Amino acid sequence: MSRRNASDLRSARWYSAGGMRAFAHRQRMQQMGLRREEFMGRPVIAVVNTWSDLSPCHAHLRARAEAVKRGVIRAGGLPVELPALSLGEVIVKPTTMLYRNFLAMEVEELLRQHPIDGAVLLGGCDKTTPGLLMGAISMDLPAIYCPAGPMLNGRWRGTKVGAGTHTRKYWDEFRAGHIGEAEMVEIEGISTRSPGTCNTMGTASTMTSIADALGMTLPGASSIPAMDSAHPRMASACGERIVEMAWEDLKPSDIITDGAVRNALHVDAALGGSTNAAIHLVAIARRAGIAITLEDFDEAARQTPVLANIFPAGDALMEDFFFAGGLTGLMSRLADRLDLDQRNVTGGTLGEVIARARIDDDEVIRPLDNPVASAPAIAVLRGNLAPDGAVIKPSAASPHLLTHRGRAVVFDSHAELNARIDDPALAIDETSVLILRGAGPIGAPGMPEWGALPLPQKLLERGVRDLVRISDARMSGTHYGTCVLHVAPESHVGGPLALVETGDEIVLDVPNRRLDMLVPEEELARRRAAWQAPPKRFSRGYGAIFEAHVMQADKGCDFDILEAGEKTPEPDIF
Ligand code: FES
Repeated sequence: MSRRNASDLRSARWYSAGGMRAFAHRQRMQQMGLRREEFMGRPVIAVVNTWSDLSPCHAHLRARAEAVKRGVIRAGGLPVELPALSLGEVIVKPTTMLYRNFLAMEVEELLRQHPIDGAVLLGGCDKTTPGLLMGAISMDLPAIYCPAGPMLNGRWRGTKVGAGTHTRKYWDEFRAGHIGEAEMVEIEGISTRSPGTCNTMGTASTMTSIADALGMTLPGASSIPAMDSAHPRMASACGERIVEMAWEDLKPSDIITDGAVRNALHVDAALGGSTNAAIHLVAIARRAGIAITLEDFDEAARQTPVLANIFPAGDALMEDFFFAGGLTGLMSRLADRLDLDQRNVTGGTLGEVIARARIDDDEVIRPLDNPVASAPAIAVLRGNLAPDGAVIKPSAASPHLLTHRGRAVVFDSHAELNARIDDPALAIDETSVLILRGAGPIGAPGMPEWGALPLPQKLLERGVRDLVRISDARMSGTHYGTCVLHVAPESHVGGPLALVETGDEIVLDVPNRRLDMLVPEEELARRRAAWQAPPKRFSRGYGAIFEAHVMQADKGCDFDILEAGEKTPEPDIF
């Protein structure tokens, strides 16, 4: 691979030019105690860190940033740490999804406005992976993604406990009266055992694995537990490698190609990945100028069964996956359907990575002839209720509900759902179809993870543990149930979900990929004519930008002004 000269480095524009401006830049670096030799003639590497005191999954990233810096210095670069928006899922309100594009904009502009030659991106909690990658793709400087790593396995009274998955499971048992307050306090304390991202195949593990499959991490980095000593060693190796990438000018546009995205689709299917991938990978690909559709997810899931036996589709956790062989092991199972010539951040190919892979536990990383589930990881539905698509995770749904006909019970908002769901007078039974609207990208706003709608207490007490649930919301990747999600267009912009009424007959037909309401077209036309668009929610600030520019779920919920287009010019320096 050819190597650039020091004068070709982007940072040379700031530090090595003549004139008063460059003099001032050097002066200010010296003000920080750095000698000229430390910042001139060598790659300046941004360590973009999404650590914060309110981001539990990233609690260790301050220490990891130091490990990255060690590697950068060892390779002859200058590390500079740049803090970026920290999106701790669960704690950030109203939802981190409102801010994924904010983070992406911030990363792009941080890299553009500073004398940076390459970047190591530190993140992992759900939206940080797509946010960091989307920004880096748009700026297109050499970049490595350094995933935070999953938290350690949890266990309660002998049972494996997965973050998120068991939160909902135990909460339902608590509401059904099978678990008491004291037990819930115990579970609260043990179910998230260490720093690191959720240890199930939730959105975080799905997206860090997808970053790995795209070639944007050191091979296999996404499977290393956050608290394993291999993790800081991996972080240091990221620092060392990015310096070489800066000399080689190996950029995201060289790595995230159509073939890499197709590989990621199959990996997502084999992981039994979160339905959120059907939003984030679309957005990542579109930033790179690669158009994928929801049907591409459906097609990959039909071809590639779920092989990773991890909650919520299976019964192991990410630490088990790591010991079983991790992502590179899983990818070796898929060699016949992956493009092995795709390059990764090492400059090598996927074929070389797979040649070194091993699998030590066939129960956790199943062979193709013994998948975790016969149902696919994702199915894409269309019909008069979702003309632009909706998704469901059949592998985490109840098989008997995948073909279902029932009467709608409609809630106009999350607040109304919470207020009425346990009303003893609510007319509902196990054949009903719960519908939540007003939960989409603009309507909620930010398309929160409300899609696993709570079940009525009176049905829980009767032993019912699942119902068909339909919404324009997303669902946490750690959750499960027969939940139809991402209905597009959303109800807030007048999608057909806005027209459903309680009592309408709904038909879910996953084998035929259909979602319909059995309402005559004349009646729908009457309801459409009577429908009134809700007023705008924001008149100022980031919310107003979001409301004006966010696209629908089938387009990845990116802002229309941020997608691939003409390259933004480099800033003038003089
Ligand atoms: Fe951070 Fe799940 S809450 S990864």
